[in-house]
Amino acid sequence: MNIAIDGPSGAGKSTVAKILSKTLGIVYLDTGAMYRAVGLKAYRAGISPTNAPAVGEMLPDTKIDIAYENGVQKVFLDGEDVSAEIRLHHISKYASDVSAIHAVRLAMVEQQRKIAAKTDSVLDGRDIGTFVLPNAEFKFYLTADVSERAKRRYLELTAKGEACVLSDIERDIAARDYNDTHRDFAPLRQADDAIVIDSTHISIDEVAGKMLSYIKCM
Ligand code: DC
Repeated sequence: MNIAIDGPSGAGKSTVAKILSKTLGIVYLDTGAMYRAVGLKAYRAGISPTNAPAVGEMLPDTKIDIAYENGVQKVFLDGEDVSAEIRLHHISKYASDVSAIHAVRLAMVEQQRKIAAKTDSVLDGRDIGTFVLPNAEFKFYLTADVSERAKRRYLELTAKGEACVLSDIERDIAARDYNDTHRDFAPLRQADDAIVIDSTHISIDEVAGKMLSYIKCM
């Protein structure tokens, strides 16, 4: 069984996917983390994330591994655990930019499909229901107003001690929404057969409850 959760940044996809993974005892794959790792590598190498040829050249020497420690997903970039560093705010834009590069997407999607084929899993991302797993048994599209998403991301970042300004976060999220929905290849969009949930006015536990009731009804 595969569950696809797509939607824009900050809608609560990863939190809800973790709840489903724990409740149903299935693997959780945060696909955004993989694009973040590629973005981090470009950032460290001083490569512009929009420079497709340069990022493409970097790819054959880039190894991204996903591992689980006590049920928590870890991301390794060329053997180094980068799970914390990929979450830094400035890496988000790098991730969004490199994710628009065709070669990057093909490499990541191949790895994601292999993981999903091996085991029952819940994957969150932007193109899971539309492109990575078009035959997933369950597809959800989770969204929320941009101001609410910015507030959540702000609280998350400040809780980790990262200095940030709410209005900057909202502007950056809106820019990423634009980037992710307007790229040529596998952009963020709602799959025709996805169940849409708006989390603006409901808690993440309620979102998880709604998803679980759909899953258990089937
Ligand atoms: O979910 P996230 O914010 O960690 O994702 C970071 C970026 O990666 C996001 O801006 C777009 C890209 N991404 C993607 O293009 N496809 C996915 N399946 C997951 C993420």
